[in-house]
Amino acid sequence: MRLTSLSGISAIAVAMFAASVSTSASAVDADAAKQLAKQNNCFKCHNLANASDDKDGPPYKKVAEKYKGKANGEARLVEHITSGEKAKFPDGHEEAHKIVKTSPPKDMDQIKNLVQWILAQ
Ligand code: HEC
Repeated sequence: MRLTSLSGISAIAVAMFAASVSTSASAVDADAAKQLAKQNNCFKCHNLANASDDKDGPPYKKVAEKYKGKANGEARLVEHITSGEKAKFPDGHEEAHKIVKTSPPKDMDQIKNLVQWILAQ
């Protein structure tokens, strides 16, 4: 009797675990990506699509066109937003590109989700 109810509980736990794993491995979470970009002020310098804007960074659609389908595209962009590498601004000056901040820090799932969302623009 006791054994049965215990194994029932663990079966539920296993099912819940499986469900949460499959959710996190699913397609791009656009809302989460946008929220992370907002929190990090990415939109201060990047638009989504408008190519003729006066923002300092390239619109994400352009970034996507450049990297889509490239084998190392995702890794390249993860590097770009996590390393603080030099970014060239339209006026010619260079400064370290913003490093994305996540909570908890350096959460690769969130960072990859953001990059995949950019690549899907
Ligand atoms: C202060 C302005 C500024 C902010 C804030 C900013 N960026 Fe950028 N970003 C730039 C500039 C300028 C470039 C162009 C760099 C270059 O071509 O050298 C760039 C380029 C990029 C690229 C393309 C890199 C490539 O290799 O083509 C991506 C992707 C990107 N930024 C993502 C982000 C994300 C995500 C955030 C927020 C975490 C962010 N940026 C915040 C200015 C900014």
